[in-house]
Amino acid sequence: MSKTASIQKQNPAHALTISPQARAAIKFQQPRCIWLTGLSGAGKSTLANALDVRLHEQGFHTCLLDGDNLRQGLCSDLGMTPEARKENIRRIAEVARLMVDAGLVVIVAAISPYRADREAARHLFPEGSFFEVYVSTPFEVCARRDPKGLYREARAGRLKNFTGLDSPYEAPVAPDCDIDTGDLELSEACERLWASVQP
Ligand code: ADX
Repeated sequence: MSKTASIQKQNPAHALTISPQARAAIKFQQPRCIWLTGLSGAGKSTLANALDVRLHEQGFHTCLLDGDNLRQGLCSDLGMTPEARKENIRRIAEVARLMVDAGLVVIVAAISPYRADREAARHLFPEGSFFEVYVSTPFEVCARRDPKGLYREARAGRLKNFTGLDSPYEAPVAPDCDIDTGDLELSEACERLWASVQP
């Protein structure tokens, strides 16, 4: 048995009196996790932010977990190797799960390049409350946008493990929603996204 498993066995989870359902009920909303995955520069953060604004204005209690922002704090010790990305996604998913239990509508924006890691995330949530959104803007469009100059750096060999170049991106097989931000106005993309993530 691993050390972690052994500690878990010795210290089973403490039962809490207030249930996730009770926490959600006083917010008058159905908590869920809306998980945006896609290449760097695909428009995940922009779309996630637009949805967050829209929901906030409508009175929803939300939280936005953005990969770039989390890498400034919770995940600041992690790099971009496959192992580090796996741990990054594990942490983000655990935080999102706690927030869904607290009654929030949680929006995640992270490349999350590996199918297995996204599947592991899905399994943390109650049935029907995790939505995988594929921001499917093609590589060439992302590379042309290159908002942070990272594609240029990676193509010049100055940035290693870059998603879509020398690090893989495993596209979702059956996402709950597929949005190419190169094809749609932001408001339209936001509308379509929200319509597809109703429990
Ligand atoms: S993930 O792969 O672990 O999900 P995450 O979404 O947290 O990645 O962070 C991606 C951000 O890190 C990108 O938006 C980009 O700004 C930055 N970045 C730095 N190095 C890389 C790289 N090698 N590949 C992709 N993105 C990188």
